[in-house]
Amino acid sequence: MLNWQELEEKCQSCTACPLCETRHNVVFGVGDRNADVMFVGEGPGEQEDLKGEPFVGPAGQLLDDMLSIIDIDRTNCYIANIVKCRPPRNRDPQEPEQDACIGYLRNQFALIRPKVVVCLGRIAALRLISPDYRITREHGQWTQRSGIWFTALYHPSALLRDPSKRPETFDDLLSLREKLKELGLRS
Ligand code: URA
Repeated sequence: MLNWQELEEKCQSCTACPLCETRHNVVFGVGDRNADVMFVGEGPGEQEDLKGEPFVGPAGQLLDDMLSIIDIDRTNCYIANIVKCRPPRNRDPQEPEQDACIGYLRNQFALIRPKVVVCLGRIAALRLISPDYRITREHGQWTQRSGIWFTALYHPSALLRDPSKRPETFDDLLSLREKLKELGLRS
């Protein structure tokens, strides 16, 4: 396991997959490195690639709004992605790209030791919860693995495309707040 500085340096100069050829910035992650809760998206979009920070585009604005409902912001959680470099035209990150990158996220988990991990969207849930995860059926459900509680929410981009999913996501956020209370992580 690398320490934060070693990990960030290695990630910033990574050439382990072809996404390094088209990136402007590596999007390492942001937030509290002692957070109890981590949010994991799929990969940077255009704005994130330009800024080097996750969830700063339109989906990020919605994510901030969603988190504010349950008193979470970028200072009391940690936000990262399955892949740290932007897939061209915002396509899904391919499996070999995920394989090349997942070690960085695993190292982030090992350093942060979150109690709760929230997958944002299908790609993160497939990778972190189960290879046959069905987001439409299973979002908001909880599963515990190696002492960490995992759940998934619809990806904020999916909520921008289809606002009819928002009420379910509101319920999932309340369930997240309950889980944090249950674990004694919030009052
Ligand atoms: N979508 C993601 O999955 N991650 C980001 O950082 C931005 C958009």
